[in-house]
Amino acid sequence: MLKAVLLLADVLPHICSLSLVFQKRDVHLGNIRTSVEKTVNLLTTRKTQNGPWLQKEEHLRSTCNITDPTPVDFDTKVRECFLNGLIENITVRFKDADTIDQLAILDLTGTDNIETMYGYTEIEALANTFDMDPETLLIQWQDFIALVSSAELTDRSLPSLLELFHSPCHKDKNLLSMYPLVAKLFSVAIIQPLSTAEVERIFSQVKLIKTSHRANLKTQTLTKILTVKLNCDETKFEKILDQCVTTFFKKKNRRLVNVV
Ligand SMILES: *[C@@H]1O[C@H](CO)[C@@H](O)[C@H](O)[C@H]1NC(C)=O
Ligand SMILES: *[C@@H]1O[C@H](CO)[C@@H](O)[C@H](O)[C@H]1NC(C)=O
Repeated sequence: MLKAVLLLADVLPHICSLSLVFQKRDVHLGNIRTSVEKTVNLLTTRKTQNGPWLQKEEHLRSTCNITDPTPVDFDTKVRECFLNGLIENITVRFKDADTIDQLAILDLTGTDNIETMYGYTEIEALANTFDMDPETLLIQWQDFIALVSSAELTDRSLPSLLELFHSPCHKDKNLLSMYPLVAKLFSVAIIQPLSTAEVERIFSQVKLIKTSHRANLKTQTLTKILTVKLNCDETKFEKILDQCVTTFFKKKNRRLVNVV
């Protein structure tokens, strides 16, 4: 049925552009809600307004001599049902969009002068969502952004700020015990599985490690190798590999099979 194909052609670009948001390596948390809302709005419009392809229906019918009949109830039975289902699915998939939007304030990239009240509304909402005492969280947050302001950090992205809590060079300040609730929010924000780029990166590494001659690698071993490979740079990985080989050969009575 021509009309159904044209409807799909009108809808797919909107789904694709939403999907592209998630294919970037660094998906910014603050873009999620707007992108989802924009897609839902556009899809809602398609219920009553023809997109560019459906507008060409008559033209296509005459130039390509397509005479298949359009059911009279196409709009109610096909178009509306399909779009409602699609919108419902997208909404369910991103039911946490509000929380993700609030978590976005933790990324302080580009905030040169952080105002004292920065992010208070979001922090209160987050306290509510994650069952924290709002007052305690607000105090910790205020102290934390004051510290970031004075620390003159060049990189104020989410991973870099999370590092403040865990990197050895900041241990003396003991930020983790000073701002435990803020640290918790950072941990939640960083593990949001938003970017599909990361997933693809991991799968391509699995393929590289699990080459055909090592196809019988145990899952446990594969996980260990992957953890090392994904968390250190190429030179470090090679160094670790060298050390492993050295250790391997130091052990007595190694029986080498199939060495080429
Ligand atoms: C269009 O298709 C119909 C039936 O499929 C055929 O009878 C007619 O000749 C076609 N017209 C043209 C211009 O090709
Ligand atoms: C919505 O999701 C369900 C379950 O995954 C699926 O069967 C259905 O085809 C989806 N509907 C649309 C319109 O994408």
